[in-house]
Amino acid sequence: MVCLGNICRSPLAEGLMRSKLNFTKFTVDSAGTSGSHRGEQPDKRSIAVASKNGLDISTQASRKLVVEDFDRFDYIFVMDDSNYEDTTSLAPNDDAIAKVHKVLDWAFPNEGLNVPDPYYGGKSGFDQVYKMLDHATDVIAQKLNE
Ligand code: 4NP
Repeated sequence: MVCLGNICRSPLAEGLMRSKLNFTKFTVDSAGTSGSHRGEQPDKRSIAVASKNGLDISTQASRKLVVEDFDRFDYIFVMDDSNYEDTTSLAPNDDAIAKVHKVLDWAFPNEGLNVPDPYYGGKSGFDQVYKMLDHATDVIAQKLNE
């Protein structure tokens, strides 16, 4: 699960995804394309909306996406078009590019939807992001668990 800072959206996506997949079969992680919040805990507002919904994401720490992630993971889900650009720019070859998907595309094919960056907005933006990611990860988990 990849966003820009790995403190708002992708930590929520990681927590949700991990809660929905068989942990003996899947490795779930998240990263940011920028690395500017490296080592930081998720944003307080992401921790709060997760906690309100029964998920603890407080132990996650932000890290930067690295080229080795294209070997370690079969699927890389990004939040928006800008993340898609940055992530595919780092991909070493076409097989790696093919692993990159926008996280809402499986639930809403051909609609080109983005998960909006909630960082500069208020708390309601985080509720909205949580709802979008809850639905997106339901659809992804169902497909992957199959
Ligand atoms: P995220 O949100 O990509 O969902 O983690 C952001 C966090 C920090 C910044 C931008 C987006 N920032 O500019 O510091």
